[in-house]
Amino acid sequence: MSQAPDRKPPQEGAEPRKDQVAPAPAQATALDAVHEAPAPDSLLELRNVFSGYGPVRVLHDVSLHIKKGEIVCLLGSNAAGKTTTLKTILGMVKANDGEIFLRSGEKQERIDDKRTTEIVGRGITMVPEGRRLFARMSVRENLNIGAQLRSDEAGIQDDFNRVLKIFPRLEERLSQKAGTLSGGEQQMLAMGRALMARPRVLLMDEPSMGLAPILVEQVFDTIKEINEQGTTIFLVEQNANMALEVADRAYVIQTGNIVLSDTAKALLDDPKMKEAYLGEVT
Ligand SMILES: Nc1ncnc2c1ncn2[C@@H]1O[C@H](COP(=O)(O)OP(=O)(O)OP(=O)(O)O)[C@@H](O)[C@H]1O
Ligand SMILES: [Mg+2]
Repeated sequence: MSQAPDRKPPQEGAEPRKDQVAPAPAQATALDAVHEAPAPDSLLELRNVFSGYGPVRVLHDVSLHIKKGEIVCLLGSNAAGKTTTLKTILGMVKANDGEIFLRSGEKQERIDDKRTTEIVGRGITMVPEGRRLFARMSVRENLNIGAQLRSDEAGIQDDFNRVLKIFPRLEERLSQKAGTLSGGEQQMLAMGRALMARPRVLLMDEPSMGLAPILVEQVFDTIKEINEQGTTIFLVEQNANMALEVADRAYVIQTGNIVLSDTAKALLDDPKMKEAYLGEVT
């Protein structure tokens, strides 16, 4: 196929995404990488992880950890490597170096050599960027897909009831095709489907994307509720203000390097964070 010349005038930087409530400035101040010590008591831990796509290097020496019961968020601008971090945890992108551990009982188990289905089977589930629902299938069918690796019928039924309690709008729409749901309802379904796997760690990739501010608030309230019911959460967000309101701790990633790491409360007051990601001029 011949390449048509690009006749569009060069753009002055990318259009801001409509979903960004508090958009990060296009040029976030470049910060130095920070490295944390191993945290063997965590539920999920990345230690010195490098990964990318063929020759394209994305993650550089990423170390982070999530303790049981926490909400930890990963913040960063477009293309910083947030989705790649989640895909690397799930083995959808292979780590070229470093180690990823998931606690199982008293021990940390290395999972970076496992296949994605094995990792999901061990209790890590993702709510992917852009929801990825089965548009022609009903709400009920989409929820059932979330439980497809399970065989404990009674537990599945309990989780089905729990999901409908968290998201009553889904109960009213169980036979509706997922593709005809509103954006907010689709996000609820994506979260509900992930909960049907009864994950030990729930990875969420920009759940507030594309939603009106009122729905964004509902999504964050639900994240808190799910966490209070016992699920550990690793949340990827560009919406730093809202994410830091619900999170216990956070990491900031810039061009594949972790550049800030602290409690959410401390980061909300950190001048570097304010300048680069919270839309405030210091
Ligand atoms: N399949 C792929 N092949 C090659 N490069 C990729 C692939 N997927 C992502 N990348 C590149 O990896 C880098 C990080 O992408 P990633 O999707 O992790 O960013 P992100 O932080 O999730 O951004 P966004 O906020 O826009 O979703 C980008 O430069 C992107 O172009
Ligand atoms: Mg992404």
